[in-house]
Amino acid sequence: MSAGADGGGGGGAGTEARSRGASPGADDFVPSALGTREHWDAVYERELQTFQECGDTGEIWFGEESMNRLIRWMQKHKIPLDASVLDIGTGNGVFLVELAKLGFSNITGIDYSPSAIQLSGSIIEKEGLSNIKLKVEDFLNLSTKLTGFHICIDKGTFDAISLNPDNALEKRKQYVKSLSRVLKVKGFFLITSCNWTKEELLNEFSEGFQLFEELPTPKFSFGGRSGNSVAALVFQKT
Ligand SMILES: C[S@@+](CC[C@H](N)C(=O)[O-])C[C@H]1O[C@@H](n2cnc3c(N)ncnc32)[C@H](O)[C@@H]1O
Repeated sequence: MSAGADGGGGGGAGTEARSRGASPGADDFVPSALGTREHWDAVYERELQTFQECGDTGEIWFGEESMNRLIRWMQKHKIPLDASVLDIGTGNGVFLVELAKLGFSNITGIDYSPSAIQLSGSIIEKEGLSNIKLKVEDFLNLSTKLTGFHICIDKGTFDAISLNPDNALEKRKQYVKSLSRVLKVKGFFLITSCNWTKEELLNEFSEGFQLFEELPTPKFSFGGRSGNSVAALVFQKT
């Protein structure tokens, strides 16, 4: 998992987290600090401090193109500006900022890291935007009645959860349950992942969701192998 741009390959803090255990399979990612709240708290505390010192909003996971791709899809499918959108694990909230600038008026960002939510709040305030709801919330243990969303977005959050050192398999199952709870029937789930292939994601979200569309992502070719650096899929809740 890396914060690098789509086409930018690996590198960055998360490179080691891509490797899987000795017997390849969907359930054996090498656990990593990237799967823990402590890690993200430290990341966003640092980014908050940088933002306060010099106004830098921090990393856009998978680069700007990853946001543009989602926005293009929403525009192509004429998602109404008042559709309710939930950004799961919003981080610095920059995707919410982009949506608000386009006129989306019913958007919510959640993150289990209080410093991420503080950073998003500061960025949103600096941009002078209103109509963005933010909440410190663990998606795996939802405390409020977050429900009825038309669109749920995940950019790197399912990846992070999959690396949790403490029973990641259970946590992924809980993720799918939480997603079923927050998304309306026929609602769309847009996921961007660098740790899971299209086929693996189809398997992870096989219950209660069906593939609606695969979004094109840059291809890589290396050492005689080729593939996509990230997978970007749109599921629809059945
Ligand atoms: C790779 S970052 C991506 C941030 C943002 N989506 C982006 O594209 O820039 C993963 C984010 O997921 C958040 N996160 C991880 N597990 C979470 C959970 N169980 N509930 C809510 N947020 C979570 C982290 O705090 C972090 O902000």
